[in-house]
Amino acid sequence: MDLKSEILRLKREKDVLILAHNYQLPEVQDVADFVGDSLGLSRQAAKTDHRIILFCGVHFMAETAAITCPDKKVLIPDMAAGCSLADTITAEQVRKWKDEHPAAVTVGYVNTSAEVKAELDYCCTSSNAVNVVRSIPDDREILFLPDMFLGSYVAKVTGRTNMFIWAGECHVHAGIRPSDVREKLAQYANAEFLVHPECSCTSSVMYDVACGDYGGSQVQILSTEGMMNHARSSTSKKFVVATETGILYRMRKQNPGKEFVPISDSAVCKYMKMITLDKVHASLNEEKYHVKVPTNVAKRAQLAIERMLAIS
Ligand code: 13P
Ligand code: SF4
Repeated sequence: MDLKSEILRLKREKDVLILAHNYQLPEVQDVADFVGDSLGLSRQAAKTDHRIILFCGVHFMAETAAITCPDKKVLIPDMAAGCSLADTITAEQVRKWKDEHPAAVTVGYVNTSAEVKAELDYCCTSSNAVNVVRSIPDDREILFLPDMFLGSYVAKVTGRTNMFIWAGECHVHAGIRPSDVREKLAQYANAEFLVHPECSCTSSVMYDVACGDYGGSQVQILSTEGMMNHARSSTSKKFVVATETGILYRMRKQNPGKEFVPISDSAVCKYMKMITLDKVHASLNEEKYHVKVPTNVAKRAQLAIERMLAIS
């Protein structure tokens, strides 16, 4: 029996739900029950009846599932699959920041550790960050962490002037620069540009759009699932995609008549790519690696995550 069939057999036999993020390797996406963005995967985890959740993504995603589903066994195929953005802030740093702004509301991206989430009022993902911030009364100061590009984007879209933004970044998206956008714009003048708000080009792209510098090109700033939805519903035939390149597999598979071009071939998340089919198989077979969050941390993080799940 081949590896894929063996994985599907074990999955059925052990009553496992396999979740895969849009950046996962093609062969890993192909064995998943559900492929999606951080918010969609968290929602699938929260409502599943399966005994085990096998999370093909990075550690904070599996931790979030472990917090929302304390009665399930949550597995990740490689414990070392981390996130450079989540690593830019510790719980200790959040506590110190809150001490400096005692009246502020804390909003943290889902790309954070469980200990950091335990310090937050609200959690958000790239697909609902704007609406989470909009749900907070205008006169309340906000501490937004840890992504500075997403934070600046949200402040701009909501018009908030009382948002303090942590200076964190993701090494993959920070590497997608305005010069990459200019280069692809010159090459693909009539394509639609799909840009993830974690990209370091986001602010300049928004500025250029406002100045009319994109001419006939359309620009959309979207979460990974927002990109998927837009690629499906748009009548355009060509798209330049500014995010991690793993999403191109699903885009091409679901939209055979359309062309998708990566903004940069080097936009690859080495942590997402640690999850291989061999490790998925070993994980299912040996029921490893079990992601656990201490109960006191999970309890404190739960409210912020529930608020994230409640806001679209
Ligand atoms: P999404 O929430 O858009 O899936 O993004 C997650 C992520 O890690 C981006 O790098
Ligand atoms: Fe983290 Fe960046 Fe990888 Fe997303 S792409 S998981 S933010 S390191």
